[in-house]
Amino acid sequence: MVYELSNPLTKTLIAHLRDQSSDALRFRHTIGEITKQLLYEALKEPCLVKKSITTWRGKESYEVIDEANIIVATVLRAGMPMLDSAVDVLSGASAGFLAMKRDETTHKSVLYYDRLPKCKGKIVILVDPMVATGGSMMDALELISKREPLKIITLNIIGSPEGLEKVSHAYPEVDIYIAQIDEKLNDDKFIIPGLGDAGDRSYNTPE
Ligand code: PRP
Repeated sequence: MVYELSNPLTKTLIAHLRDQSSDALRFRHTIGEITKQLLYEALKEPCLVKKSITTWRGKESYEVIDEANIIVATVLRAGMPMLDSAVDVLSGASAGFLAMKRDETTHKSVLYYDRLPKCKGKIVILVDPMVATGGSMMDALELISKREPLKIITLNIIGSPEGLEKVSHAYPEVDIYIAQIDEKLNDDKFIIPGLGDAGDRSYNTPE
């Protein structure tokens, strides 16, 4: 299921991302702020546990998110500002990193870095700012699902209707939280109107 944010604050931040005068620092910061908005929506479902903490009045028990049961995962590299922002809020969650590249001849994706913690029985939150063709998300979801997590949630900033349809059709059990669904993909498979390349915008590496 795909959930799109409708908050005016989100739309305003998306416009900052589209603005080419936003430099890398502002770009990453804005990506981080939108990630927190996505998290607020994605974690609305009851996932609270009672935790005993020492307050100024002594030992008391309060409801908190079971952070130890959460893994925030990303595929290098554009997802890094999202991952940083998510683990800033969920300080007890684990972080996982994947890196893949497409083999130019077979067009299959090849995994070359895998530091994903054990996923079995955990909630995995996969973060990636862009869903263009959906190919990268499909590759990451295939890899994560094989490791038997309790649930997979994705957080994305911007996507094409085509890419989201492909992913949600293949993985109906995955909850996809996205800040903005744009109009379409162009012939070069870029999201229109889009933001440009989120990795390049974040890390000052224009082609
Ligand atoms: C971007 C983005 C997604 C992917 C989306 O990464 O972060 O992972 O493209 O495109 P898709 O839906 O067509 O697969 P990119 O490959 O540009 O790498 P980067 O993170 O290093 O910039």
